Amino acid sequence: MTLLVTGGAGYIGSVVVERALARGHRVVVLDNLQEGHAAAVPPECRLVRADYGDRATLARIFTEVAVDAVVHLAAETTVATSVSDPAIYFHNNTVNGLALLDTMRQFGVQRLVFSSTAATYGEPLTSPISEEHPQQPINAYGESKLMFERCIRWYHRAYGLRAASFRYFNAAGATERCGEAHRHESHLIPLVLDVAAGDRASVDIFGSDYPTRDGTCVRDYVHVADIAEAHLLALEAVDRLELDWFNIGTGTGHTVAEVVAAVERVTGRPVRAVRRERRPGDPATLVASAERIRRVLGWAPRHPDLEEIIATAWRWRQRHPGGYGD
Ligand SMILES: NC(=O)c1ccc[n+]([C@@H]2O[C@H](COP(=O)([O-])OP(=O)(O)OC[C@H]3O[C@@H](n4cnc5c(N)ncnc54)[C@H](O)[C@@H]3O)[C@@H](O)[C@H]2O)c1
Repeated sequence: MTLLVTGGAGYIGSVVVERALARGHRVVVLDNLQEGHAAAVPPECRLVRADYGDRATLARIFTEVAVDAVVHLAAETTVATSVSDPAIYFHNNTVNGLALLDTMRQFGVQRLVFSSTAATYGEPLTSPISEEHPQQPINAYGESKLMFERCIRWYHRAYGLRAASFRYFNAAGATERCGEAHRHESHLIPLVLDVAAGDRASVDIFGSDYPTRDGTCVRDYVHVADIAEAHLLALEAVDRLELDWFNIGTGTGHTVAEVVAAVERVTGRPVRAVRRERRPGDPATLVASAERIRRVLGWAPRHPDLEEIIATAWRWRQRHPGGYGD
């Protein structure tokens, strides 16, 4: 297939691109590089550096390239900023998305794989969280993604769009080539690795009095290559599925304190962690039920072990001390 991958220069997108190329797909990446890196895009695929909400650019790409399917990862992704400045989230994650859906429709492109998020669920009422759990987001990030999931459903119903939406839990780890190098890092594992590497003095642990086994928050970490694999399975299945949505997680949770300890074991270096007050909007536990994606797509994580996930991230970091060098 020929794929258009929005956000393909970003952390998860670059691994999706890498795996798609390995599987024999042709890829065009559309990324404005506000967070992504040109060097993360393999030389064999075309990078269009532009905003995916720009209808003229989209029309040009779809005119020049016979796109078979779109994998849509481009987004604003920082939960905390979405609460203080929701406008950019609704513009980038919802309004821009409509430009993409309309252009796909205009050019008769019917296949979409969309990166949604566990943040669409809000405060969990049950754990593990299945896809039937109510979606009541508690931040504008989750709301903007949920709104787009809903747009997809209506475009499916009225215009025959075929789509799979993936609600990722916590992406982590690296491949040989691609790793996590956000300019504004908010994810736990790279922050803890920064401390192990001596690039950061300490890492904050927000909340030590949650009803969990050691009082710190529990999250479900899933290897980025396993996430990418799910996208390839969905592309193969989307004509049959027509419309579906899946959690991507391992079904196993780790506390923040366990992650810090695992980083110390993997790196052999001490990590200074500072206990802070709880942050508003952090649920105690977010763990996926991965039953549906196993059953429908036959997906299972190949790298479910937390230490292995951390080891891949650590190896990438050591080989790329300056990230992508930009
Ligand atoms: N990282 C996680 O743990 C996680 C969890 C749940 C969901 N997600 C979702 O997965 C997707 C990828 O996340 P990531 O961690 O790789 O983030 P990322 O920031 O590394 O990647 C997003 C990419 O989109 C690009 N982009 C943003 N707005 C754009 C625009 N208007 N036009 C063109 N390009 C644009 C950025 O430059 C970046 O390269 C996002 O949709 C995110 O919401 C990520």
